[in-house]
Amino acid sequence: MKSILILHGPNLNLLGQREPETYGSLTLAEVNKKLSDAAQDLGVEIQAKQSNIEGELINALHDAQEWAAGIVFNPGAYTHTSVALRDAIAGITIPVIEVHISNVYAREEFRHTSLIAPVCVGKITGFGWRSYLYALQELTQLTD
Ligand code: DQA
Repeated sequence: MKSILILHGPNLNLLGQREPETYGSLTLAEVNKKLSDAAQDLGVEIQAKQSNIEGELINALHDAQEWAAGIVFNPGAYTHTSVALRDAIAGITIPVIEVHISNVYAREEFRHTSLIAPVCVGKITGFGWRSYLYALQELTQLTD
């Protein structure tokens, strides 16, 4: 069965308690459960990982090449700053979709810049936890 990595970046471990008006009230475990249920319906399996540490996210991107068909990635604030994450995505051969829970373009200007976007196959932003769902659905089709 096809496997997809759901990779959550910094501060997303605090979902549910972190700025709920912006990021919603679901915890990370609840989001992952919804995605895992959706994956079952789609006929794929997911592995979800979260890290606050840039190097661990880089390692997860590299390692995913060994077992995943693609990656749904919310890089959190590293989206706007990390050349290292950008290079990690550019250096692997499986497709990555960038996702954000909030609509980054309706927020502060520094969130309008993504160093990651040019090396991703696409980007979904602003649909709450469903941003991940739509990316998962797309990756499932894309990697057929
Ligand atoms: C985020 C948006 C980022 O700007 C922010 O730093 C996050 C979360 C989102 O999912 O909306 O940590 O990636």
